[in-house]
Amino acid sequence: MYENTPWWKSGILYQVYPRSFQDANGDGIGDLPGIIERLPYLADLGADALWLSPIFPSPMEDFGYDISDYTGIDPLFGTLEDFDALVKAAHGQGLKVILDLVPNHTSDQHPWFIESRSSRENPKRDWYIWRDERGEGVPPNNWLSEFGGSSWEFDQATGQFYYHAFLRSQPDLNWRNPQVRKAIHDVMRFWLRRGVDGFRVDVMWHLIKDEQLRDNPANPDYVPGQQPYQQLLPIYSTDRPEVHDVVAELRRVVEEFNDRVLIGEIYLPPEKLVAYYGQNLAGAHLPFNFSLISAPWNAQGIARLINDYEAALPRGAWPNWVLGNHDRPRIASRIGDDQARVAAMLLLTLRGTPTLYYGDEIGMPQAEIAPDQVRDPWERNLPGLGLGRDGCRTPMRWDSTRHGGFSTGEPWLPLGPNLTLCNATAQADNPASMLSLYCALTALRRAMPELALGDYKPVEATGDLLAYVREYRGQRVLIILNVGCAPDSFDASRWPGRILLSTFMDREGELTDSTVALRGSEGVIVRLQGA
Ligand code: NOJ
Repeated sequence: MYENTPWWKSGILYQVYPRSFQDANGDGIGDLPGIIERLPYLADLGADALWLSPIFPSPMEDFGYDISDYTGIDPLFGTLEDFDALVKAAHGQGLKVILDLVPNHTSDQHPWFIESRSSRENPKRDWYIWRDERGEGVPPNNWLSEFGGSSWEFDQATGQFYYHAFLRSQPDLNWRNPQVRKAIHDVMRFWLRRGVDGFRVDVMWHLIKDEQLRDNPANPDYVPGQQPYQQLLPIYSTDRPEVHDVVAELRRVVEEFNDRVLIGEIYLPPEKLVAYYGQNLAGAHLPFNFSLISAPWNAQGIARLINDYEAALPRGAWPNWVLGNHDRPRIASRIGDDQARVAAMLLLTLRGTPTLYYGDEIGMPQAEIAPDQVRDPWERNLPGLGLGRDGCRTPMRWDSTRHGGFSTGEPWLPLGPNLTLCNATAQADNPASMLSLYCALTALRRAMPELALGDYKPVEATGDLLAYVREYRGQRVLIILNVGCAPDSFDASRWPGRILLSTFMDREGELTDSTVALRGSEGVIVRLQGA
């Protein structure tokens, strides 16, 4: 941590998927007491903050992103006392705690929705988005649900449709209603007072919809076989100009407390994404940048996306990078185990706050899920399109015992292959493991202001080599990454220095005054001379 720099700028975030982190009571589902047990692991790893995916009471149709009580803890995960104990223990070990705020929609079991659907006259009717049919049985417009089918559900009892961007059991709140805004602001205050250090806001770009609910246009680039949601361009259902007022209000609530962070989940191209920093940077501190998740894995492609993102950032805005999350296939399976080490070096040497996804630090693979084991509603609704998210949500592997030390009971999802090598205990004992590499990278980032805070300067993106410099007050480090599997070499005659770390972890101290030979899938960090 650096003086005069907010923790969320210099720090490293770590996403915990609570169902799958550590089960303390043997029911096969992770819980808060389990997370408390594992806090020392996160501190040793060099994380500064943990973000917990939703832990609130929920029917779990979308595994907690369908909330039925915003200010409680689901009994599966524990109690409010457990939560308070978690915050206390985390803070005691120097770790911040970030909660998932899901303000776009509730569960259909939330008392607000139960009231809202009870009659057209109910005072909470307008808390959700209700509309008449467009013709007999025809939904109010053509908007599609991300999880398949129309995003409108007809309610027989009151004869109107309600809008749901995701499952029909996840009705969208109406953010044009000031009472809704106030209710969610109060939810935020409830948790902020309990000591949480900030929020990751779910689907921030969905929060407010076109007032006239105009039809979305067809997507001319849609290819049959793609996710059906992509048939339309969601220009009226998402990313509306008014969303920025909503975000600025969320930020003001966060600002009522000291030193807290507002992070937004936003899947948009860089030029649109950066608008979520807000006018005068009064929006989200960190609109999540997911460009690496869908990056073409080649030097030019990666260099381009870094440059495009850096160029799009408003003055003073702080960047951030994400390699994986609970919605996308695991990095180790996307680009292979060897390149996943290069990706780790990239993530932890770029300018901007890095977010690690649990298990990626031990190279957890995407698990194959047998059809009868599928839990994810997205895969169940739209089977066979490769949308299923269970494979990236499998239990954390702590050791090589039965169920990987995750649970004494039968885990809610299978563990997946290669438990013997891919578990935290085995890797902690191996100085060249992925876990050891992650620890070395976080240690360097914590120790070197040029890595945590320095400027980013592109150097080269030719063939399979990507090189850049990070610089802070005259101190410079050069990062050279070989994103291919063949050996390559970098002309370092202009870059004399000494290797601090290789992804192979075997050439620390080597001088770089001529050519640096890189093995396939090797990355190195070089402290430059004169620095
Ligand atoms: C985004 C979350 O990351 C995802 O897991 C969830 O299914 C949708 N929001 C709907 O809440």
